[in-house]
Amino acid sequence: MIHKSVLLKQLVESLDLSGTKTVVDCTLGAGGHSQEILKSLKSGNLICFDLSFKAIDNFCKILTKEGFSVQEEKDSLIVLKNNKVNVYLVNKNFVAIKDELVKIGINSVDGIIADLGWSSDELIDIEGLSYETDVEAFLDMRFDKDLGVTAADLLNGLGRSELSKMFERYADVYGKSNQNLVGEVISFRKKGSINKVRDLKLIIDRSFKFKQGNRFQKNEVYKTYSRVFQALRIAVNAELTNLTTLMESTFELLNEKGTMGVITFHSGEDKAIVPFLQSNLEKQAIDVTSKRGDELFVRPSVEEIKENIRSRSAKLYTYIKL
Ligand SMILES: C[S@@+](CC[C@H](N)C(=O)[O-])C[C@H]1O[C@@H](n2cnc3c(N)ncnc32)[C@H](O)[C@@H]1O
Repeated sequence: MIHKSVLLKQLVESLDLSGTKTVVDCTLGAGGHSQEILKSLKSGNLICFDLSFKAIDNFCKILTKEGFSVQEEKDSLIVLKNNKVNVYLVNKNFVAIKDELVKIGINSVDGIIADLGWSSDELIDIEGLSYETDVEAFLDMRFDKDLGVTAADLLNGLGRSELSKMFERYADVYGKSNQNLVGEVISFRKKGSINKVRDLKLIIDRSFKFKQGNRFQKNEVYKTYSRVFQALRIAVNAELTNLTTLMESTFELLNEKGTMGVITFHSGEDKAIVPFLQSNLEKQAIDVTSKRGDELFVRPSVEEIKENIRSRSAKLYTYIKL
């Protein structure tokens, strides 16, 4: 599946790319936003992070075809150069942004972007991530194999209240539905371990008591599968904790008048970003350039949503550091 960049122009236009600039793309993916940045960046540095080596390798190949040459390749870093720009490809979690930039000799930057989530072409590579693929797949869900805990570990090991909080915070499953879901997880594990996609689907079916053959209910079933699987993915990969850390670290890294743009796709991500923006607005440390009335974000146009259905839940937050 080809990944289509969301809010491509809007995100890149939120950056000031005139003159010599240092810009970071925290989530390289298929490289759509980074390529757009390179079209306008006259001179300077572009640093791209991605946990996926495939994404890094793929972008390296694209750049060499476009006239960049590899200057250095070591551990998790590839350095490329053309006659105007240096590109650093960093195969690391963006949570380590400050340390990784110091390693390449950069202490401050002019622009930062993050387009959260995972590329569509990457999702199929991670075991147990989707209810739609192999029901026999192990519930792993780790994007970074150095992480110690899998989704199966969480389902088998968390206590009642931790499970409940996870489904509430990351899947918006509240009240009776939350209690039923937690109850079914606990009763399943009394008889054996929860290891496969099939096990989790069965737990969800039991807890939501779906009736077979009802079309309306069928949609609800899919939505529920997807929310519960998403909750586990977020928990396994510490996505929201990492995002909070990212917002704080990037603010420190930005030069005065530097800008940051973040694209979110679900309410949990918004909950990590909005308090950061609000508290810095109050301190007059930033100006939120995506603010429209009471909302702090802009959405994709109707045309973009028609062309790319994945963009329908996207929100773009941009700010300038004062
Ligand atoms: C939605 S895609 C980005 C798409 C990209 N903007 C484009 O235009 O092609 C998100 C990418 O961020 C990466 N990613 C997600 N969380 C990450 C993290 N904590 N650290 C590093 N990379 C991460 C994923 O591996 C994925 O490739």
